[in-house]
Amino acid sequence: KTTVESRSLGSDPNVDGELKTEKVHILFGSHTGNSEGLAKDLHARAKEMGIDAVISDMASFKIRELKGINKLAVIVSTHGLGEPPVQAEDFYNYLQSKKAPNLDHVQYSVLALGDSSYLDFCQTGKDFDSILEKLGAQRVVPRQDCDVDYSDQAETWQKKFLTTIIETNGQTTTAQVQDAPSNPVKGIQYSRKNLFEATILEKINLNGKGSSKETIHLELDLEGSGIKYEPGDALGVYGANSPTLVRSVLESTNLSGKEEVETHEGIKTLYDALTYDYELTPLSKTTLSGYSELTGNNGLKKILGDKNALQEYLSGRDFLDLISEVPITLTSNELISVLRKNTPRMYSIASAQDVVDEEVHLLVSVVRYNALGRDKEGHCSSTLADRLEIGDKVKVFVDKNTRFKLPQNPEAPIIMVGPGTGVAPFRAFMQQREVLDKKGPSWLFFGDRNFTTDFLYQTEWQQYMKEGVLTKADVAFSRDQEQKHYVQHRMLENGKELFEWLENGAHFYVCGDAQKMAKDVDIALKQIIQQQGGITIEKAEEYVKNLQITNRYQADIY
Ligand code: 2AM
Repeated sequence: KTTVESRSLGSDPNVDGELKTEKVHILFGSHTGNSEGLAKDLHARAKEMGIDAVISDMASFKIRELKGINKLAVIVSTHGLGEPPVQAEDFYNYLQSKKAPNLDHVQYSVLALGDSSYLDFCQTGKDFDSILEKLGAQRVVPRQDCDVDYSDQAETWQKKFLTTIIETNGQTTTAQVQDAPSNPVKGIQYSRKNLFEATILEKINLNGKGSSKETIHLELDLEGSGIKYEPGDALGVYGANSPTLVRSVLESTNLSGKEEVETHEGIKTLYDALTYDYELTPLSKTTLSGYSELTGNNGLKKILGDKNALQEYLSGRDFLDLISEVPITLTSNELISVLRKNTPRMYSIASAQDVVDEEVHLLVSVVRYNALGRDKEGHCSSTLADRLEIGDKVKVFVDKNTRFKLPQNPEAPIIMVGPGTGVAPFRAFMQQREVLDKKGPSWLFFGDRNFTTDFLYQTEWQQYMKEGVLTKADVAFSRDQEQKHYVQHRMLENGKELFEWLENGAHFYVCGDAQKMAKDVDIALKQIIQQQGGITIEKAEEYVKNLQITNRYQADIY
């Protein structure tokens, strides 16, 4: 008789039929905590089915334990532009190094999280899948790639994986595959699967007249929802397509919009389905490949086969561009079959409940551009900016981010780097610290284009400085002078002091653009440590790695 053990997670629940299965190892590599949450779900489900299981973070997993693993579940998200989460990097690199062991004793499957609006969708999961195969491991269940709304697909994969584990063990069980364990609470519990409709209480464009930007501050009402969030978490928001875009798509396809279609949200008119349930912008790779198959168009096929061409083609295009360039006659069902399901946009929360109570505040940059001869706009940001007014409702859920949190010790110093909308979570941090009696020093680096029009929340930062909630602020307005001034330049100018803060235990946070800003900030940080610490760049990299592993360097970048 085997025992059901739980090494890292609390006490055992009552187990009905204990099974003689080999132990399942669940390894997760999490960026914001979603993979970690799913790993814990899988662990709980396994135990309910009487399967012996242990769970570990890739960050702290002991490589020598690989020898003893027979059944392996890897749950990993893709971070930034196709990279593994920082916490998973060492393990990821190890498996690809010459030192990696043979794993032909391992049966495994991978659950990959990602966002299909990026070209390198689920890349880290894909990499783990092929690396494990190369090392001789046997894939027992196909990898599941999950988009932003991952719950259903993740659940299906979990059930499939556990059932297969039992079957491959030559066992049958009376234990049912259970639904994800949930905390019983009174009343309705809102979540990403049960969306709350929040009323817009306030909506203000924070940019002044003449600004090249449009950044709106939104206040949403959560009253009666029981929804709780913490600074650092994000809010998932569902947008809708603009009537102009929907009508143009209908015109181009010679459909009226009155046709009834069956969608994942039930039976609707095509017009409503196109408005609320599918994405028309931006054009996704999945939609392009679905459409390419429908049309059999060779030009599209070629583009899909070449990563650079694909990237270039997708840039600035929406679904209307595609059907205008490669027109075919479509039925209403064919049309929706190629479209991406409407996917929420995640906005870093800009408030703390200790201060705003049953409200949530967001800072949204409104995306507008002209491409291929048409004015275009961001799906969700334009919904919030143009199509919803104060008093209207919007569907939301909280997306926890356990990897972007204030230090546990309220007196620990914090350094916050957040240009543009990247400043949002730092407003939440300041609100959170505002109500504390004792708090550590805090330092903000903010940047935007022009001082007079783009200093987001300027008076609030001034107030926080006055109250001593914010100790220090350095700003960089990139377009007020010939030469670009960016946040990383301000960091470098203050290198000595910044290093002192780090040496005094400061936590370093960066939020905002992932493509360039966060990379440049990372380089600047390493440079500062190298110079001020009088050490080699390799040692400085080690220093930074250590900050990351000890959760003293956290990034919320997009
Ligand atoms: P720019 O638009 O003038 O180039 C918020 O968007 C601010 O971040 C803007 O001032 C923007 O400047 C700036 N920014 C753009 N690229 C950056 C980079 N690589 N590093 C830091 N800030 C950057």
